[in-house]
Amino acid sequence: MKKVLITGGCGFIGSNLSDYLRRKGFKVYLIDNFSNNKTDIPIKKSLLYKKDINKINQIKNLKNISAIIHLAASADILISKKNENKYYKDNISGLQEVLRFCSEKNVKKVVFASSASVYGDTKNKKVNENFSLKPNHYYGYTKLIGEKMVETYSKINNINYTILRFFNIYGPKSNAVVSTFLAQKLQNKIITIFGNGEQRRDFLHVDDLCGAIWKVLVNKKSNKKTYNLGSGKSISINELVKKISYSKTKNLMKRNDDIEISIAQISKAKKELNWKPKIEIEKGIKKTLTLDFKRLKKVKLISLKEQTNLIKKFNT
Ligand SMILES: NC(=O)c1ccc[n+]([C@@H]2O[C@H](COP(=O)([O-])OP(=O)(O)OC[C@H]3O[C@@H](n4cnc5c(N)ncnc54)[C@H](O)[C@@H]3O)[C@@H](O)[C@H]2O)c1
Repeated sequence: MKKVLITGGCGFIGSNLSDYLRRKGFKVYLIDNFSNNKTDIPIKKSLLYKKDINKINQIKNLKNISAIIHLAASADILISKKNENKYYKDNISGLQEVLRFCSEKNVKKVVFASSASVYGDTKNKKVNENFSLKPNHYYGYTKLIGEKMVETYSKINNINYTILRFFNIYGPKSNAVVSTFLAQKLQNKIITIFGNGEQRRDFLHVDDLCGAIWKVLVNKKSNKKTYNLGSGKSISINELVKKISYSKTKNLMKRNDDIEISIAQISKAKKELNWKPKIEIEKGIKKTLTLDFKRLKKVKLISLKEQTNLIKKFNT
């Protein structure tokens, strides 16, 4: 049985991916420092290392790992601006330790979770992987540096790698926009929209994302490649609210650097990985609501005042 290690394995994507890969027959190990206050462990405790990735090289008993899927990161754009040191530690120095672990433990492949944010302002274009990389906030900057570290370190140390640029991933256990809107509806609160809501985003269901990561693990064509992973379609935030069918909404101030349209060109992943997204947004929203109902009903939502303060702080 192939062994894989998922960093950030107790987070939103990591916990979904851990279930998915176990169903596909992998033996899955996780490392996570629980910085997101996660309490649900998606795996037997013996397969979890509760540790910061900066200390991953203290793990001595883990051998014959065929791949590391590196998801651990600080990933909130708004918070990244005033927390450069934390983002540096998690996203850059932590990655360096993960790469060193790959080399010392003879791990054959590293899959790096990058982000659409490496593109920055895409001038409303559907972007392919060759689009210029000009991130416009600190989080995107750490992902861009991360990509370069993965490419260079892997070349020097003869490790295979794949870089995946995730667009907006949604599904059970997420705390991002789709889940926030669902929770606001279930808790009879106001749905809060940044700006006028006409900004368009490319939403990919986490099951489709896991399907792509699985293809990357089993398909050698993906070695030393970079892929966009999105749905290839965009919807506006106002359209998303309509699909959630809830009328209590409030528009808050716009984030200064928020781009109008973010949409992935996914033909490269479709062709080379023989993958395509299967879950339409309507079905994905229903699925998320059904599977995550209990958590969404009681998840702690930040107040209107706190949201406004966060944006104000970001915009200054
Ligand atoms: N969710 C999205 O839409 C999206 C989009 C683009 C890129 N990504 C990337 O995908 C990855 C996973 O995202 P997610 O949405 O699951 O985020 P998440 O915050 O839910 O999960 C990240 C996990 O990493 C852990 N972690 C953070 N720093 C760590 C450290 N130093 N050591 C050990 N564990 C640490 C956290 O405790 C958390 O469990 C991230 O790298 C993120 O940048 C996500």
